Amino acid sequence: MRTPLIAGNWKMYKTVSEAGDLVEALLAGLGAVSDREVVVCPPFTALHLLSSLFAGTPIALGAQDVFYESQGAYTGAISPPMLRDVGCRYVIVGHSERRQYFGDDDAVVNRKLRAALAHGLRPILCVGETKPQRDAGTAEQVVVAQVQAGLADVGATQLPDVVIAYEPIWAIGTGDTATAADAQAMHATIRATLAALYTPELAQNLRIQYGGSVKPDNVDELMAQPNIDGALVGGASLKADSFLRIVHFRKRSML
Ligand code: 13P
Repeated sequence: MRTPLIAGNWKMYKTVSEAGDLVEALLAGLGAVSDREVVVCPPFTALHLLSSLFAGTPIALGAQDVFYESQGAYTGAISPPMLRDVGCRYVIVGHSERRQYFGDDDAVVNRKLRAALAHGLRPILCVGETKPQRDAGTAEQVVVAQVQAGLADVGATQLPDVVIAYEPIWAIGTGDTATAADAQAMHATIRATLAALYTPELAQNLRIQYGGSVKPDNVDELMAQPNIDGALVGGASLKADSFLRIVHFRKRSML
C-alpha cells in the first residue's frame, strides 16, 4: 500500500511572516489526515519557523533544493545535514526550474539525491519533458532517461526513501495540466522502469507524484488513477483553501 503524498512547493514566494500566516491557516483547517502524508516545502528562509510550527502536527517539512557536500567553502549553498538540523524530512531535487535556471543537470541531480539519502532525507526526484519533446513523441524516452540518471548508484535498500514526481514542464504554472490518462500512462512507464532497474516489488511500493497545475478541480480525477500516488503542488499551495482542498482529495472509492 502506498500512502498518498501531497506536497506544496512554495518556490520563491512568502516572506517569513507571510509563511507563518499561511501555516496558521493550514493548521487551522487541516483536520484529520491519517490516510495521507502532507509536506510543505517553503523557501530556505522560512524553514526554521515552519519547523517549530509543524512540531506535533501531521505536516512534515521539506526543502526545495540541497547541495551535495556536507560543509565547506560553497558560498550560498545549503547542505543535507543543515536541512536535517532545521527539521526537514524531505527535499526536492531536480526540479525543472533548477535544471533550467541553475544548471542542475542529471549528474548534479544524482549527486544531490544520493547526498540527501546518505543523510536521512527523503528526496523527491522531479522528472518531466518539455512541450517540444512531447510533440516529437520522445516524452517517455526523456523521462525514463531522467529516472535512470537520477537514480544512478542508488541501492535497493535506499530506494524506499525516494519519491518521484512526474512534472511535465509544459504543465507547470500554465493551468494546462496533463490529462489524467496521459499522466497515468507516464506514471505506469516510470513504474515499469523502476521494476526493471530494481524489482517489481520495490517499484510497486515507490510513490510517484504528479505535478503541473494541480488544482482543487482536477486533483480528484488525477488521484483516482492507479499509478498516481500524490501531487507536487506549486501555485495552488500558496493559498490555504486551495491547498487544503487538494490535501483532502477524494479517494477513488469516494468519487
Ligand atoms: P504549479 O502547480 O504552479 O503548476 O507548479 C508545479 C510545480 O512545479 C511543483 O513543483
